[in-house]
Amino acid sequence: MLQLADNKELKHYPVLAGEVLETLVPGNGPLRVIDGTVGYGGHSSLILRRNADAVLLGIDRDGEALKEAEANLSFAGARFHLAKGSFGDLADHAAGIGWLSADAILLDLGVSSPQLDCPGRGFSIRSEGPLDMRMDSSSGRTASEILNTFDERDLEYIFSSYGEVRGAQRLAMEIVARRKVRLWSSTAEFAEFCNSVLGRQRRPGLQAATLCFQALRIAVNDELAQLEKGLAAALEILSPGGRMAVISFHSLEDRIVKHFFRQKALDCVCPPEFIECRCEKRSELRIITKKAIVASDEEIARNRRSGPAKLRVAEKTKREEQER
Ligand SMILES: C[S@@+](CC[C@H](N)C(=O)[O-])C[C@H]1O[C@@H](n2cnc3c(N)ncnc32)[C@H](O)[C@@H]1O
Repeated sequence: MLQLADNKELKHYPVLAGEVLETLVPGNGPLRVIDGTVGYGGHSSLILRRNADAVLLGIDRDGEALKEAEANLSFAGARFHLAKGSFGDLADHAAGIGWLSADAILLDLGVSSPQLDCPGRGFSIRSEGPLDMRMDSSSGRTASEILNTFDERDLEYIFSSYGEVRGAQRLAMEIVARRKVRLWSSTAEFAEFCNSVLGRQRRPGLQAATLCFQALRIAVNDELAQLEKGLAAALEILSPGGRMAVISFHSLEDRIVKHFFRQKALDCVCPPEFIECRCEKRSELRIITKKAIVASDEEIARNRRSGPAKLRVAEKTKREEQER
């Protein structure tokens, strides 16, 4: 089992770390790994320690996180490379260091604990800060720009589609009315506003503001489109027999991963009334986790953030399997 003590220089526990290692780094021998969400280097550090022949490309949109990753992975010498950008472009980042394929790919989605805990980044409903929410603070539109410029219909779409917020239409209308008096700029003010306009949501114990912040964050960072792009890019670059592991933290992400794996695992997509296959589709992935892996009670007790995590793993089919 994984020794987290090996990882004592890190300020947080990587989620489902033992399970990620077991599925992506089964033994020794040369291994090219892409960690598309390297963050502070938690999973990457464990991967590089577990296999002394592994080389790793870590990608993140967050320049601050990359600085921390650089320091945390320094023990591995020349066995790692870092790149700033989205995992949606992982094939370009890999080509940038001369890699045309990879044997293992990890995506640990969403925001990191350090991002959430920093009030200045604007991700948290619990602390006062600017309504920013960009993972890459050097580019793109902030949450306050969205709240202050999008029309009512687009705001409603964001809250209903990305937060599954009950009362999204009313919220959008109130946001637009309020900004005519004063523009949106503060996290605490927006969180309080969401709770007072929306009241209780479906799940007990869940504040309306949590769902609204999730929705805004997804819109600011274009998270769902990047995930779809990243999955397709990962499949493209994986070597036959290589594996991809994706950890998601809410149902919208998990649905995309599950659907992608299922579609790519299908061997034929002909209508059922066809007696013979005419589509020539061959499965490109084999699903390793029939059901998503979730954190143990022990892990959740140690790290509350692992509670909603779901890990799905799939393996790229080998060429001879595809040709059958
Ligand atoms: C949950 S944290 C990853 C933590 C990391 N696995 C570790 O153990 O330290 C998610 C990270 O992914 C980054 N991220 C989220 N979406 C991204 C994307 N589309 N491309 C690149 N990085 C992304 C965030 O900036 C954040 O640093």
